[in-house]
Amino acid sequence: MTASTQETPYTFNHDQPTAFDLLDRLAVILDDFSRDQLRHAGLRAGARCLEVGAGAGTLAHWMADQTGPTGEVIATDVKPQHVRAHQGVTVRAG
Ligand SMILES: C[S@@+](CC[C@H](N)C(=O)[O-])C[C@H]1O[C@@H](n2cnc3c(N)ncnc32)[C@H](O)[C@@H]1O
Repeated sequence: MTASTQETPYTFNHDQPTAFDLLDRLAVILDDFSRDQLRHAGLRAGARCLEVGAGAGTLAHWMADQTGPTGEVIATDVKPQHVRAHQGVTVRAG
């Protein structure tokens, strides 16, 4: 038996034309749950947050609104081109 070397395409390939819509739909489905988890974890004004794999950045925006001007939010993504700009969010590739 030989092992397959064929790679499965990554679902969130941001180079696809449908990527932005996919990320937006995902946010509609999951962000309420994710926000509840972050509230439960104690997210508050002044907190420093790092989101790894920020997608469209909707959670990072919300975290920036919660942490306010004394907080800090850094959003990273391996392909960050779909992370929307927000004055409270620093976007980094990686
Ligand atoms: C499903 S989206 C998640 C979006 C958002 N964080 C959320 O919870 O709705 C996953 C994101 O992780 C990114 N990603 C995947 N592997 C990564 C890696 N090794 N380092 C950084 N980002 C990565 C993808 O590009 C994609 O934007």
